[in-house]
Amino acid sequence: MRSHERLRLDLAERSYDILVGDDLLGQAGQHIAPVLHHKRTFIVTDETVAGLHLTTLERALADAGITFEAAILPPGEQSKDFSHLASLCERLLDMKVERGSTLIALGGGVIGDLTGFAAAVLLRGIDFVQIPTTLLAQVDSSVGGKTGINTRHGKNLVGSFHQPRLVLADTGVLSTLPRRQLLAGYAEIAKYGLIGDADFFAWLEGHGSAVIDGDPAARRHAVRTSCAAKAAIVAADERESGTRALLNLGHTFAHALEAETGYGDELLHGEAVAIGMVMAFELSARLNLCPWEDVARVRRHLAAIGLPTGLETGLDADRGGRFWNAANLIDHMSRDKKVKGGRLTFVLARGIGQALLRDDVEAAEVEALLTAAVAE
Ligand code: NAD
Ligand code: GLY
Repeated sequence: MRSHERLRLDLAERSYDILVGDDLLGQAGQHIAPVLHHKRTFIVTDETVAGLHLTTLERALADAGITFEAAILPPGEQSKDFSHLASLCERLLDMKVERGSTLIALGGGVIGDLTGFAAAVLLRGIDFVQIPTTLLAQVDSSVGGKTGINTRHGKNLVGSFHQPRLVLADTGVLSTLPRRQLLAGYAEIAKYGLIGDADFFAWLEGHGSAVIDGDPAARRHAVRTSCAAKAAIVAADERESGTRALLNLGHTFAHALEAETGYGDELLHGEAVAIGMVMAFELSARLNLCPWEDVARVRRHLAAIGLPTGLETGLDADRGGRFWNAANLIDHMSRDKKVKGGRLTFVLARGIGQALLRDDVEAAEVEALLTAAVAE
């Protein structure tokens, strides 16, 4: 079997390859060399990932005759802000980054989003390569060119579409990722099945535990299928004027839950997405779009994998004993950046693998759903 698989995200002159394999970090130099203008690179990573994987990347770059310097940030969402963006840009300028230089983002979605945005604005735009090291980053954030930072007004409110030149998704590096982070990434994998690929969802029902438990072939299949799905959607609608919004299945609910918990460790993004996807299916069933059996199937699978599926699970005493309030959640949703003329666009489903966009959902339906969810 080949050591990796190659997918293509087709965007005319901004097209790029996504490689998925078990040992790509150790061969990174040979894969990155062809996309460089000159052999001078700048690695951006966080302290945790640096301790685990930076040496392997540095060795691989050196083997290919590529020079590098590294900027290492603190781990966590707090690094995705104006102050860290500013210090990162100043540091890269101190290191004499040039128009022809390439940044390499080695890390999860935080490092990928921040590095991509730095690349978008430094010297009016330079190249960058994504080496995602979390499951979430491998199946979602490293692909598609959304880059940005958070502000005190909310998440990802300052940013840019800036596509990477290459994505190297090495499933081998996931061996060091904590299980809770793996599960959070898995929610985004399940999302691709729920949006548009019922066969993939059925495969996940049979093989999801193997993906989480580290079976190499299962992990690779899940990452490859997810990246292929995302690449097709982004190629069709890079700037999210239509179909790309389907990738937000469950996210409107998830963002309200995350806003309420302060975007911290109490509830990870993927955990909120798992709960949000169940809510999106339930809302679809309440609107008679989707059979209730499908809602039960979604809930059953996510719960079997170990993800929270409702407000009664996952946020109990050992994580702070939060009590939810439907009015607060509705208030967060009304501030969502997808509100247009007072109406939210929801990603709903006619069934597993059949997502659709609707901007005509009555507020009362959403309130009823959340009130029932809070009371459970
Ligand atoms: P993260 O980048 O904070 O990584 C999670 C934790 O795992 C960090 O502490 C990190 O140090 C650690 N880590 C990373 N790789 C590791 C490894 N291999 N072994 C051990 N530890 C490792 O979080 P994330 O979940 O990867 O990304 C979340 C971010 O992604 C959010 O800011 C979100 O807004 C963004 N996001 C962006 C997009 C997009 O399209 N651009 C899509 C989804 C999410
Ligand atoms: N994560 C959603 C998107 O990339 O559009």
